[in-house]
Amino acid sequence: MGKNQLIRERDLAVLWHPTTQMKDHEWLQLLPVSSGNGVWLEDMEGQRYIDAISSWWVNLFGHANPHISAAVSEQANRLEHVILAGVTHEPAVRLAEKLVAVTPAGLERVFFADSGASAVEIALKMSFHYWRNVGESGRNRFVTLSNSYHGDTLGALGVGDAGLFKAAYEPLLMEPLVAPSPDCFALPREQWDAHAARKLADMREIFAAHQGQVSAVIIEPLVQCAGGMRMYPPSYLTGLRALCDEYRVHLIADEIAVGFGRSGSMFACEQGGISPDFMCLSKGLTGGYLPMSAVLTSHLVYEAFYDEYTTMRGFLHSHSYTGNALACAAALATMELFEQRDVLADNRLLASQMLKAVEPLQDHPHVGDIRQTGMILAMEMVAQREPMIQFDWKQRRGIKVYQYAMANGVLLRPIGNVIYFMPPYVINSDEIRQLAKVAMAGIDAATRD
Ligand SMILES: Cc1ncc(COP(=O)(O)O)c(C=O)c1O
Repeated sequence: MGKNQLIRERDLAVLWHPTTQMKDHEWLQLLPVSSGNGVWLEDMEGQRYIDAISSWWVNLFGHANPHISAAVSEQANRLEHVILAGVTHEPAVRLAEKLVAVTPAGLERVFFADSGASAVEIALKMSFHYWRNVGESGRNRFVTLSNSYHGDTLGALGVGDAGLFKAAYEPLLMEPLVAPSPDCFALPREQWDAHAARKLADMREIFAAHQGQVSAVIIEPLVQCAGGMRMYPPSYLTGLRALCDEYRVHLIADEIAVGFGRSGSMFACEQGGISPDFMCLSKGLTGGYLPMSAVLTSHLVYEAFYDEYTTMRGFLHSHSYTGNALACAAALATMELFEQRDVLADNRLLASQMLKAVEPLQDHPHVGDIRQTGMILAMEMVAQREPMIQFDWKQRRGIKVYQYAMANGVLLRPIGNVIYFMPPYVINSDEIRQLAKVAMAGIDAATRD
């Protein structure tokens, strides 16, 4: 038995994989990765694969990046971790200073956690608790957008709207108010702003009908990633900020997936010229090295918690690994890589190369929409283009593309019928061409019958 097969069998005897119907692995092979280098992953028998999805959108500057690896290794020899309650350390302070400096104005306090979902939980709790602390305890509701995703823990799942992930748990979840998403699926760009304006009007109705009851609205700025890379324009962010100010509702920007350059700007909120009341960051924060997240908020929010202990206004929330020194070192090294060259400018070139590489799909009878925001490019497979008919999800066409790509040296992870590229920023033009060639052939193969 080959090395790949051996580890697959050992794995299936003991492991339970994330977001996976394990029975699928009776016919769908696991990819046993033994090493990584740049955009490449290598299996246990030396076969190489382009990581086109940045390992669930976390990797920014390539696998085994020498600069980040060195920083983590040096930190490991000095201090790996220490409790952050009652203790401080240089990497945590430096990282907090950096995050305050690079995020939109007004975000001045940093609370660390260890995953995207935990950051979302923290932002929800902080917003809710803030209103109690300032004497507006009637603000108990959260507003979310349809088709949104904010993580899989119960609170985060509750404010998401991805039926697939939450259906089984409905009785356990809070009930958010759901506003229609400004998602511009299949609309020409020139109609995006008008579409967003109509969705803002829907949001206004919800705010108006629940005056004094809403704590916060939570959004994924510009791209609803897990919801199938659905996109909308910056004008929605600008309009939503104004609405939140008018109705005194917090705005939580979940930039866990789109932060750190994915959207084309360092943070997606910048494109709408806005500062949220809370910003959740994770994934790219450590360059894809270590689990870490952060919630940034304003002095105003922080001050509302600052009081004598016995008033019970404090934010009594923790995770054991909060402010982990290794993760801080990885994040600081990642920020240094942003400072060493104009990453966003270089990405603009890569983004245009990605779009150009899939140009032949413009006329494909089974590709209904090609959309792009920054370093995220998505292609939607459809049964018929005009009038548009979606493939039945039970046909699992995306998995066919996944299998084809895997057999041809590319790791994709389609979301339903949506094939997307979200590669590390160190991909080059040859690799983009190779990736596009495989993805296009995969789409052909998966849509043939
Ligand atoms: C927008 C958004 N929020 C939250 C999360 C949850 O992050 P984590 O998987 O680290 O809990 C994700 C994960 O994909 C995400 O895309």
